[in-house]
Amino acid sequence: MPVPETPSAGGFIVWIEGLPCAGKTTLAGAVAERLRGDGRKVEVLDGDEVRRLFSPELGYSRKDREAHARRVSYVARLLARNGVAVLVAMITPYETSRQAARAAAGQAFYEVWLRCPVEVCRARDTKGLYATAGKGGVAKLTGVDDPFEEPLAPDLVIDTGRLDVAQSARRLLEYLAEKHLTPALAPA
Ligand SMILES: Nc1ncnc2c1ncn2[C@@H]1O[C@H](COP(=O)(O)OP(=O)(O)O)[C@@H](O)[C@H]1O
Ligand SMILES: [Mg+2]
Repeated sequence: MPVPETPSAGGFIVWIEGLPCAGKTTLAGAVAERLRGDGRKVEVLDGDEVRRLFSPELGYSRKDREAHARRVSYVARLLARNGVAVLVAMITPYETSRQAARAAAGQAFYEVWLRCPVEVCRARDTKGLYATAGKGGVAKLTGVDDPFEEPLAPDLVIDTGRLDVAQSARRLLEYLAEKHLTPALAPA
């Protein structure tokens, strides 16, 4: 189904991907707050949280990660087709999952890659994952001992290693405004 640039129902999916600690949760939260302030219906599907609920039996093999992404993309589709602005915040390490999510969306779908060098992510390490990776901590940490395939066709790339949170949120909101999904921002 062709994806319209300006969907009349108003729902859309922003699929935010990147390494652990690239800023997905933080950015989704900041942008969600702003969109709610504009009176929109917004939902955030955050990888860690939905994994516990949707996929507790799944691990971190390629097959399991792809299965989890499929579940999340299905719920994103249901919400978006009911007019909700859906922000997905998930590592999404595989190109196959990104393409499948786009194909399944049925609504406007925007893939946003938070590009952040692994060294910067490691220095942030908000959840202590990098510190313990390979030392009895989480096995298969993306970017350390599990792959993150460089996105081939993201709609937007935000360099969260270089920009701060406010700048990154502004970049995404500007992009959504360009697509006529949100009101234009006041000049910075
Ligand atoms: N440009 C940015 N965008 C988002 N987060 C950033 C940015 N710069 C620094 N940070 C910080 O990086 C950390 C990212 O953590 P988090 O959002 O939990 O990442 P993720 O959900 O990708 O694992 C937070 O402490 C956040 O304040
Ligand atoms: Mg997160």
